[in-house]
Amino acid sequence: MSATLAEIADRVCDCTKCELSRSRTHAVPGEGNPDAEIMFIGEAPGWNEDRQGRPFVGAAGQFLNEMLERIGLNRADVFITNVVKCRPPGNRDPLPDEIAACAPYLDEQIAAIRPKVIVTLGRFSMARWFPGERISRIHGQARQFGDLVVVPMYHPAAALHQAALRATIEADMARLPRIIDEARQAKQTEAAAPPEQMRLF
Ligand code: URA
Ligand code: SF4
Repeated sequence: MSATLAEIADRVCDCTKCELSRSRTHAVPGEGNPDAEIMFIGEAPGWNEDRQGRPFVGAAGQFLNEMLERIGLNRADVFITNVVKCRPPGNRDPLPDEIAACAPYLDEQIAAIRPKVIVTLGRFSMARWFPGERISRIHGQARQFGDLVVVPMYHPAAALHQAALRATIEADMARLPRIIDEARQAKQTEAAAPPEQMRLF
């Protein structure tokens, strides 16, 4: 039995497992639908997120909301979180030991939600499933990990101000409904398959 999201969030808000706990205003556990089929994983809270304790509420979040809307989703449909739950000072990159310290919370969130599709936003969440890969090479390409589909995408903050990347992430997002549909159907096929024993006859 996995921990509930609320219980995980409570532990995140009290967490002092890494240095980022010392400079945060609020930890940002993540939010959204506990039964979400699709989960978005960013990098780390920024200034606005640290102030509000909520993920993707600044400019990058606004852009993400717009892209979701265009494919018929809103934030209440999905679950959104980050690789590290506390803001790195000055928005520096999260350090390997901070990512490692925080990883169990993300593991637990994934176990609680059991999404069909995970979209990684930026290279830090991408590295969890695609270590050593380059985002310029693999963005938008869905890959199956057991019964989970993971789709790496550019970070919306990077894409927001660079026209070429912006067009790229918008095109990748536009293909998401199809990927979600396919993941749904794959699960149904699995569920409809007869149990192993019956296939002997
Ligand atoms: N960028 C992220 O990676 N996460 C947020 O929550 C906000 C901005
Ligand atoms: Fe804990 Fe993660 Fe915050 Fe570090 S970033 S203090 S591990 S919740």
